Amino acid sequence: MVSTAPAPTTSGFEELRPGVKAPVKDTILTPRFYTTDFDAMAAMDLRPNEAELEAVCEEFRKDYNRHHFVRDQEFEGAADKLDPETRRVFVEFLEQSCTSEFSGFLLYKELSRRIKQKNPLLAECFQYMSRDEARHAGFLNKSMADFGVQLDLGFLTANKDYTFFQPKFIFYATYLSEKIGYWRYITIFRHLEKHPESKIFPIFNFFERWCQDENRHGDFFDALMKSQPDTVRGPVARLWCRFFLLTVFATMYVRDVARKEFYEALGLDARDYDKHVIAKTNETSARIFPVVLDVDHPDFYIRLERIVDNNKRLAAADAHQVPAVVKVLRKLPFWVANTWEMARLFFLKPIVAEILQPAIR
Ligand SMILES: [Fe+2]
Ligand SMILES: [Fe+2]
Repeated sequence: MVSTAPAPTTSGFEELRPGVKAPVKDTILTPRFYTTDFDAMAAMDLRPNEAELEAVCEEFRKDYNRHHFVRDQEFEGAADKLDPETRRVFVEFLEQSCTSEFSGFLLYKELSRRIKQKNPLLAECFQYMSRDEARHAGFLNKSMADFGVQLDLGFLTANKDYTFFQPKFIFYATYLSEKIGYWRYITIFRHLEKHPESKIFPIFNFFERWCQDENRHGDFFDALMKSQPDTVRGPVARLWCRFFLLTVFATMYVRDVARKEFYEALGLDARDYDKHVIAKTNETSARIFPVVLDVDHPDFYIRLERIVDNNKRLAAADAHQVPAVVKVLRKLPFWVANTWEMARLFFLKPIVAEILQPAIR
């Protein structure tokens, strides 16, 4: 919980203290911080897929992006060229990305520290991934500083809520966030390659090699799940994979559509961009998850759009100055409606992927 009451400032952002941005209020849509069962992780037997994990670790050791995240002169004065509205949505994007990258850093760092003695190969992989995420978060935070604000990552570490997930849920959630991160970054990069006039800030030049880090991180979790075959086999695993695919896709879609101005500033349509990222991530997940979602089903985006609408109404209800109980009563129907839509989405017939991956069974 954020305990310090932030004060609005002339910079347009709420600040904890001069130059340090107050973190956005935690909602279901903001990036989470995770913690897990470290003993269970330490006790994991990697032998069923040790050779592949060793190969992934060897890739991490090469540290391909060691010299990549170096700011050049293109950054000088770049922040001043943005109009106030673009500046606002861009700083929001930087903050959200920085928080997600930092969340990865904290989890991977803690994992590598806690399992070092009992599971050295896994610990080494987590250590390299935390190295990468620290670079990513630091690079984003430096860009925020160009706009006169930064996140106090120490404050976030101490004050944000941590969600406990069993290791297998950490695997699903982080695998998806790494692969979705890859597709998000590469899609923006490819688009701006074709439309350089929309490149509003030089940080996008770094996305091509940056996203390769995320891709490797995703491959690590792919190899790790193969070493723990029960995580991706059987009826229970199938249900959980569907659940995580759906919540990750729905959260991103609702959040990005609500923030469509940022994508417009890049010359992208938020909906088209998300549909592409979702299709690609779903396709990639079929390499490891036993089932994936039928995102081409006509109902899929119809129902997501209803959730988008409900969320607009929820935000409107929140903005009214009324007693808390009235607010809850006004919001209740939309919460119920969202739960209904999510349940219907969850029960859409999935696509069986495991028959396409005989090599790993
Ligand atoms: Fe990252
Ligand atoms: Fe990553």
